[in-house]
Amino acid sequence: MLGNFTYCNPTKLYFGKDALDGLNEELPKYGKNVLLVYGGGSIKKNGIYDKVVAILKANGKNIYEDGGVMPNPTSDKLNEGIERAKNAKADLILAVGGGSVCDYAKAVSVSVHCNDDAWGKYFIRFEDVTCDIIPVGCVLTMVGTGSEMNGGSVITNHAQKLKIGHVFGENVFPKFSILNPEYTYTLPKYQMVSGIYDIMSHILEQYFSGTDDNTSDYIMEGLLRSLINSANVAVKNPTDYEARSNIMWIATWALNTLVAKGKTTDWEVHMLGQAVGAHTDATHGMTLAAVSMPYYRYIMPYGLKKFARYAVNVWGVNPDGKTDEQVAEQGLAAMESWMKSIGLVMNITELGATEDMIDGITESTLIMDGGYKVLDKSEIRSIYKKSL
Ligand code: NZQ
Ligand code: ZN
Repeated sequence: MLGNFTYCNPTKLYFGKDALDGLNEELPKYGKNVLLVYGGGSIKKNGIYDKVVAILKANGKNIYEDGGVMPNPTSDKLNEGIERAKNAKADLILAVGGGSVCDYAKAVSVSVHCNDDAWGKYFIRFEDVTCDIIPVGCVLTMVGTGSEMNGGSVITNHAQKLKIGHVFGENVFPKFSILNPEYTYTLPKYQMVSGIYDIMSHILEQYFSGTDDNTSDYIMEGLLRSLINSANVAVKNPTDYEARSNIMWIATWALNTLVAKGKTTDWEVHMLGQAVGAHTDATHGMTLAAVSMPYYRYIMPYGLKKFARYAVNVWGVNPDGKTDEQVAEQGLAAMESWMKSIGLVMNITELGATEDMIDGITESTLIMDGGYKVLDKSEIRSIYKKSL
């Protein structure tokens, strides 16, 4: 049964080959000072930086730069960004990049006017935002996280070996996001498939929870089928516009809060992956891929009906004459061979984790209670061992 909820998503999207024109519509709504936030330099190589700067100048903006946002942005970089935004007296933070840049921009946006340590307030104590927020806009260049249309912000603290996400409210969602699928063509294959699995994982985290007949589960099965189909095309031909645009759109819908409404969700794969990330700094989607099969095989008996439904409706397993268990196992086997076929990393060893790190990674893992089995620390340790 659908639970009670309120639903509002305030992010305005501009989608397609001309999406960047949307900046001309949005910029006049904000003051003169723009903090332009970006990553390690890909936008300078592929020309997106020049295009954005030209539009900012044409709109008479003062541009202040904050580059060098690393994948898995850190609490130290966040503190630097807060100072930069303060010095710029930023009226708008424009994030041009992937999820790391968008997440970081949101974290800066809620911290500039708050007189507290941002890491402690938002990522350890999960406090609400009580200060003014600087508006954020995004030009997305890497697809996967859904950060372009949600309030999520994930920050890593290397000293504390923690990678933590705060899901902020609607007032922190990007005011607008610009989604041009062609901007993703220059992504290395490793990043593209990592993003594809991040999308799949976001959907599965919300799908593998609950036993009710919920419309969201049907929507998610459709999103998954489209994702698998488009991923197969994009892996062979990364400049196939149809496939890349589908993947970009699925990513947004996978985590823009819609499919979670009225249902329970899990998110334990993300907790496992984020702990691996906190210790190895590995690419987000790959950390999820590396722990997924041991996790799903372990919890399958506790959510057998849903795993069997997944096998039939997403992977096309024929259930005739088979037990639910056989059907569910065949579904997971099909998922595993597809993951290998698109080039995902299937173990945490390849991501830099070693057996002697497992106790520390287990310690860093948060336990969620919305999945089919609430894990204890010894179960988590054994999943990591199987993921080595
Ligand atoms: O830094 P640059 O030089 O731009 O290179 C980036 C980076 O190395 C590169 N890249 C991005 N666009 C490119 C490109 N290279 C060539 N051409 C382009 N068009 O890709 C690399 C990865 O970028 P990053 O932003 O780190 O990837 P992603 O979008 O996967 O973001 C990952 C971060 O988002 C968090 C993750 O934990 C991680 O910290 N997440 C955020 C979520 C949210 N806001 O809701 C949910 C997710 O589950 C996730 O946890
Ligand atoms: Zn994710």
